[in-house]
Amino acid sequence: MITVAHEESKQNDLRAILGNKAAVQAFRKRPFPDGTIIARLAWDYVSSAENNKAFGQQQSFVAGHPKNGLQFMVKDTKKYALTGGWGYVKVNDGKPASNQVHATCAPCHERA
Ligand code: HEC
Repeated sequence: MITVAHEESKQNDLRAILGNKAAVQAFRKRPFPDGTIIARLAWDYVSSAENNKAFGQQQSFVAGHPKNGLQFMVKDTKKYALTGGWGYVKVNDGKPASNQVHATCAPCHERA
């Protein structure tokens, strides 16, 4: 596990970022070598009525159902030369997302 994050707006999720060994080493010392894999898992970000009752105030948010699919980034400088060396894939319920969805990944990541 590399980190966790909470995105608001239409995502409204809690997400975990996972990496293979190459990814974890490269987060400490760039650049990311070919073979790096980074995965993003996300869950609905929900208020817990049960926990709030125990705390006596509104303060608890927890991971609900998985949402927004599974996303992976794979580094291969040759294979993915057109998208800055990164390949992108999103999987929903075991099925890859459409080409239209995949076309959005690299342009936004370049901005980010
Ligand atoms: C609108 C911009 C945008 C689009 C489109 C987008 N991403 Fe991202 N992505 C981000 C940002 C910003 C982060 C870092 C913050 C976060 O994790 O929410 C991120 C994080 C990730 C991560 C976790 C690694 C990291 O750098 O934090 C993966 C894996 C990922 N995206 C894959 C994808 C895939 C696959 C697609 C296409 C299906 C995609 N993304 C589409 C902006 C985007």
